[in-house]
Order: sequence, then C-alpha cells, then structure tokens
Amino acid sequence: MEHYGGAKCVVVRGDKILMVKHRHDAREYYTLPGGGIEKGESPEQTAIRELQEECNVSGTIISKISEYPIPEGTMLYTFYMDIGDQNPKLGHDPEYSADNQVLVEVRWMELNEICERDRAFLWASGLLCIPQFADELTSWGDDISYPNKRIIKHYKTNLIQTERLVLKKGAIDDYLTVYEYDFMKLRDIDGEFEYHKQDLEQIKKWFEPNIEQIQMNNEAAHIFDWIIYLKENMIPIGDICTHSENIENGNKETEIAFNLHPTYWGKGYMPEAIKVVLDYLFDLGYENIKARYSDGNIKSKRVLAKTGFKPNGVEKDAWTKNGKPIHDYKVIMNRDNWSHFVF
Ligand SMILES: CC(C)(COP(=O)(O)OP(=O)(O)OC[C@H]1O[C@@H](n2cnc3c(N)ncnc32)[C@H](O)[C@@H]1OP(=O)(O)O)[C@@H](O)C(=O)NCCC(=O)NCCS
Repeated sequence: MEHYGGAKCVVVRGDKILMVKHRHDAREYYTLPGGGIEKGESPEQTAIRELQEECNVSGTIISKISEYPIPEGTMLYTFYMDIGDQNPKLGHDPEYSADNQVLVEVRWMELNEICERDRAFLWASGLLCIPQFADELTSWGDDISYPNKRIIKHYKTNLIQTERLVLKKGAIDDYLTVYEYDFMKLRDIDGEFEYHKQDLEQIKKWFEPNIEQIQMNNEAAHIFDWIIYLKENMIPIGDICTHSENIENGNKETEIAFNLHPTYWGKGYMPEAIKVVLDYLFDLGYENIKARYSDGNIKSKRVLAKTGFKPNGVEKDAWTKNGKPIHDYKVIMNRDNWSHFVF
C-alpha cells in the first residue's frame, strides 16, 4: 500500500490537550487525533478530516507546529487547531469495522495524566510552539524526574453556554430572583417542594458579607456554583452547583444539585444546562458525577434519567417530612458512559 504520510491535530483547552485512546489487541496508548494522508489530500485536509472522524468536531488550522520524517519514508505533520467551544465525542475510524474499532476514548488530558512514552510523542509533535506549554516547560526546576505536580487552574465557575442558556457566576440579586417564588403555593404539585424553598433573608445573610470572597472560597474548595440565565434577555432562571469533591480510588468525583424557577419548568432548560455542566466537569478530569432526588420528586427523577444518570443506591430515611421519613435516590454518571451518551 502506498503511503502519503500522516497528519495529527493538537487541540488545547486551558492546560489540557485533546487525546484519543487507541486499543490494538491488549495494547493501549494515548495519541493525538489524526491519521494517514489519503491520495490527493493535503496534510491540512487530512488533519481536518481526521479530527471530524475521530472526535466529531470541525476544526480550523491555526498553524503547522511540526513536521518530521517517519519510517515509511514519508512525513508526519502536526497542526495546532481550533474547535471553538465544541465538545468532542468519540467518533470512529472508517478503516475498521464497527466491532473492531481501535479508537476507544476521546478525552481532554493534562500532561501529567499522560504516560512518559505518549507524552514524548507530544513534545516531538511541536507542543513547545504553543505558548502555555512552552511556559510550563520553562517553569520546571532542575530535578531529573518529571515534575510531580498537578497543575489545575480551572476550578472556576467559568461562563459556559448552550443554545438557549448562559451559565456563569451570579450576583446576590440573581439568587434572590431565582428563589423569589413562594414554594408554599406549589406544595403538593409533586411532593416535597418546601425542601427547596430558600429564605431570601437567609440568602442575603449568606452572601452579603462578600459574595466574591465566598465564590473564591468555593473555587478553592473545588465547588462550582453557576446561575443559569436565559440567553435572549439574561434573566436569571435557576442555578446548578456542585458539592465538595471526593477522591475515590484516585478518581475525582463530585455531586451536582440544581434548581429552576417554576416559571421556566417543563421547557427542557435544566437537562440542557446539566449537559454542558457534565461536559465541563468531565473535561476538568472528574471520573464520576453523582446526583440525588428525593422520593416524590418526579421531575428531578425524570431530568436525571433523561440526562443518562444510572441508579446508584438509596439513602433510606435521608430526611423527614411532616414526621415521615423520606428516602433519597442516588444516581451516577461516569466518564465512559457520558462519552457514549446520546441525547
Ligand atoms: C427538577 C427541575 C429542575 C426540572 O427542570 P425542567 O427544566 O423543568 O425539566 P424538563 O423541562 O425536562 O421537565 C421535566 C420532565 O419531568 C416530566 N414530568 C413533570 N411532571 C411530571 C409528573 N407529574 N409525572 C411524570 N413526569 C413528569 C416532564 O414531562 C419532563 O419530562 P419529558 O421531557 O420526558 O416530558 C425543576 O422542576 C426544579 O427546579 N424543581 C425544584 C428543584 C428540584 O427539585 N431540584 C432537584 C433536586 S437536586
């Protein structure tokens, strides 16, 4: 078979690089998305095609960052590419049949999550041409071993968007708007809403001393807290937060909780918001995202089922309502299921 060389793609988000995992029989490794140049194709066209096939995103080329000879007597080209805010999902390699795919995972990875062998290929592919990685490298000391540090810069409630929504850090008034309704009027619609009613005076007391400081403390504790706004008019309509994270068997996991002002119920806003939050948290390196709903909270149960969460146990008698013990149902989404989940 004639070889025309290959083209690879470096796509960066924050301090992470988009990587694909290949499995050949029992052997697995991470590499950049990319593949062989087809007859008549330019290396740039190959990079764009391969990124689309393997990661389901459409990329544009920023620059060529490396070019070196490979054993077949041809060249391997690497391009630094931009995908905007698209979220990569596992694609396929058309050279292999559906049940014999070598491509098994697509994920954002920090350098320190990649083994030395796979990382060495990244440097050869021109990572030093990308300013943040050049800065990263020059910041290392003189130790012989690879720096044993985990650089996490993104425990931040950054702005994220969906088609209809903007999620970002809120101001006190936004929380007051989201929780302004009288839940007591909504009691018995589906069970236990007084549980979610917030006292507005209490909200003010929490935040008024210094909301910025509280938000900074949350970030330091790896807690996220997004207010959800309607994109068309930036009215605050709900919130999504995480609880403090756990490290289970070396895997990071966290739990989400969410709430929407009743005016906006039933329009699919919360599933839309949860989807981008899960993308965000899995990109950040979480392995499991958990959630829970209480007995009788049919809407929340449905929202979690629609977003692909799976049952993960019951906390019996988690709390009491009118003297009656109420169970909480726990659900979970893991990185692998998320990468395959289709809405
Ligand atoms: C739970 C909540 C976030 C839902 O958000 P939302 O954006 O309105 O969600 P959806 O638009 O997807 O609608 C809810 C789903 O529940 C279904 N549903 C609503 N009432 C229902 C009922 N009585 N029986 C069965 N299904 C019901 C809806 O039909 C819809 O599912 P569908 O799309 O398959 O038709 C919102 O109701 C809320 O904020 N509730 C109070 C706070 C809360 O319970 N938070 C969760 C705890 S962490």
